Amino acid sequence: MKNKLLLLAFSIACAVVFLNSCQSDKELEYIKYYTNGKLLYEEHCQNCHSSTGAGLSMLIPPLTDTLFLKKNRSKLPCIIKNGLNGSITVSGRVFNEQMPADDHLADIEIAEIITYITNSFGNKQGLFSTAQVSADLQKCNSR
Ligand code: HEC
Repeated sequence: MKNKLLLLAFSIACAVVFLNSCQSDKELEYIKYYTNGKLLYEEHCQNCHSSTGAGLSMLIPPLTDTLFLKKNRSKLPCIIKNGLNGSITVSGRVFNEQMPADDHLADIEIAEIITYITNSFGNKQGLFSTAQVSADLQKCNSR
C-alpha cells in the first residue's frame, strides 16, 4: 500500500515536471521569435514605422493601433510580403500611401517580425507561428 502511494506521488511529480517543460519550450520559442523579430524589424521596418511604432505623421501609419492589428492578424503576412497600397484607416486616421513589398523575407522571418510587432507598442497577442504565415500567404490574392 505504501509503495503504491509512493508510486502515485512519483507519477504526479513526473507529470508536473513534464508539463512544466512543455510550457517552457513554448515560452522559449516565443522569446526566440520575439528577439529575432526585433532585429529584423530594426533592419526592415523601423526606418518607416519608427522604433516606437509611432509611424510618421500622415505618411506612415502607426503599429500602436491594437484593434487594427487584431482585426487584420491574418493579413499581416501578405502586407509584409507584398506591400500595401490604397486607403486604410489606422488609429482613426486615413492613410493612402504605399508600403513596398519585402518578398525576399522567409516565412520564419515574417513570423518573427509579426511576433515582435504584435507584442510591442501596446500589443499583446502571443506567438505568430511560421505555419500560420505559410497558410495565410496562400490566401493573399483571394481577398
Ligand atoms: C518605405 C516605408 C515602409 C517600410 C520599410 C515598411 N512599411 Fe509598413 N507601411 C508603410 C506605409 C506607407 C503603410 C500604409 C500603406 C497604405 O496607405 O495603404 C504601411 C502599412 C503597414 C501596416 C498596416 C497598417 C498599420 O500601421 O498597422 C503594417 C502592419 C505594416 N506596415 C508593417 C510593416 C512591417 C512589419 C514592416 C517591415 C517588414 C514594414 N511595414 C515596412 C510604409 C512602410
